[in-house]
Amino acid sequence: MLIELLLLLITLTIAYSLLINKIRGLPPGPPPLPLMGNMRSFDDPMDHTLLRWSKKYGPVFTVWMPGPTVVIADYQILQDSIVKQGDVFGDKSNPVNQMKMLVEGEYGLVQNANHMWKEQRRFALHSLKEIGFLSTSLQESAKSYAQKIVAEWKKEGAEGKPIDVTQNLMYGVANLIWQLAFGRTLNFGDPMLNEVEGEVYKFFVGMAHPCVLFLDVFPQIEFLDSLFGYPIQNLKTAHTNCMNIMHKELDITAKTLNYDEEPRCYADSFFIEIKRREEKGEDTGNFTRHQLARATLDMWSAGFDTTVTSLKFAIHYLMSYPEAQRKMQKEIDEKIGQRQITMEDQKILPYCMAAIVEVQRTANIAEINFTRLTNQEVVIGGHRIPENTAILPQFPSVHVDPEIFERPDYFCPERHINDAGEFVKDPRITPFSMGKRACLGEGLARMELFIFLTTFVQHCSFSSPTLIPPALKTIRGLTRSPEPYNVKVSARF
Ligand code: HEM
Repeated sequence: MLIELLLLLITLTIAYSLLINKIRGLPPGPPPLPLMGNMRSFDDPMDHTLLRWSKKYGPVFTVWMPGPTVVIADYQILQDSIVKQGDVFGDKSNPVNQMKMLVEGEYGLVQNANHMWKEQRRFALHSLKEIGFLSTSLQESAKSYAQKIVAEWKKEGAEGKPIDVTQNLMYGVANLIWQLAFGRTLNFGDPMLNEVEGEVYKFFVGMAHPCVLFLDVFPQIEFLDSLFGYPIQNLKTAHTNCMNIMHKELDITAKTLNYDEEPRCYADSFFIEIKRREEKGEDTGNFTRHQLARATLDMWSAGFDTTVTSLKFAIHYLMSYPEAQRKMQKEIDEKIGQRQITMEDQKILPYCMAAIVEVQRTANIAEINFTRLTNQEVVIGGHRIPENTAILPQFPSVHVDPEIFERPDYFCPERHINDAGEFVKDPRITPFSMGKRACLGEGLARMELFIFLTTFVQHCSFSSPTLIPPALKTIRGLTRSPEPYNVKVSARF
């Protein structure tokens, strides 16, 4: 009897795995297990696994994580769907139960949904453009942080001592976000920056815990929290700690805000909008202190680790590919000399531009993108996809496709330089994603990468502390990042 039951169970599992996509009207994909889906089948880095599956099942395929998600891993199909039919893919496929538990709903800028994302994103973009990306003040700060980082490295790395570049990069990047969000900066070494970093890290680690991931398919798991060592309670605590820091900073901003002057930062614009609405007797709607705190937390979560990690990859590549570093330095020496580099200089530094794009392609820090949700039935790459289906615009797999980029793992800025020595933008490289939910901080991030990296190589040379540069090993966290490494930093003047 037991054997029969076991055989029946195995038969049902196999039937489920082979037929579930067909039954649900979804594109084919790797056979999922009941409950677990394909979560245990990611063996390589995720961008590579998804690329491999796209070659096997087609560029549009289904993966269960643990719910069904339709993956698009082809540049042209991404353009035809996510970009050209952007309105269909504006919503996010969020962990609804998790969000309800943490922030009483879908707030913020990253995981906000249906009713409010358009309004909040439009407002944030407008505010960030006004305050940050178009004004010179943030660029000036980036330039001075770049110089400060270089000065710290020169001190730490004096007499050829190999150093870890992470901490000073973190201070520079963190301060730019703090300035954009709260209008103030902190000293390098201010314990607040490390505190935020630590709490947000715990929050991210907590979100990736299997129990937390299962909350949306099996909400009752909350009652089994103690059995697994309280991962759900730990996540709540980490989130509350993060939000408390944001509220404390917002209190400082609110106290120093002058409503008669131009906004200094995103929080100022937000407070001014609340007051404007109140004075006009309008509904303040989603313009609440709660939304503001979650939005500033999202700016940190989305903008800090991504930028620091990209810069850490860049310095590892400079150390490992000295010829590329020398070409950047030659270009800067010839066109700029020792004066401060500005965003205007992008036009006269084609090789540096090519190197930065190549850093973003090769590092591919987002192994797997965020998922969207279809708001109507839509055809993607010949497949009819129902309304309310989770969609993964998997641009990172395009970056590592050997049919598009020869030896994709090889760092080669020359890929982006034409015969006339000009920088040629490759539209298939989209590290900031695409469509209506593409990165909101792209302007700031591009500015940081350009000003920081060009200033670094203008002032310093990066070399390996050993004869052969250490292999680039990576760790999977919120983003893919390099394992800790040391580098020799020598002053050029
Ligand atoms: C090198 C640095 C960065 C990279 C590679 C990067 C990349 C990305 C990617 C891939 C997404 C997901 C887009 C999607 O869902 O399809 C995203 C979203 C986002 N990023 Fe960035 N990002 C960077 C820096 C920043 C910075 C500096 C900020 C802000 C200060 C920022 C704010 C955001 C926000 C708010 C979202 C959510 C947008 C939405 O869902 O509407 N990012 N970013």
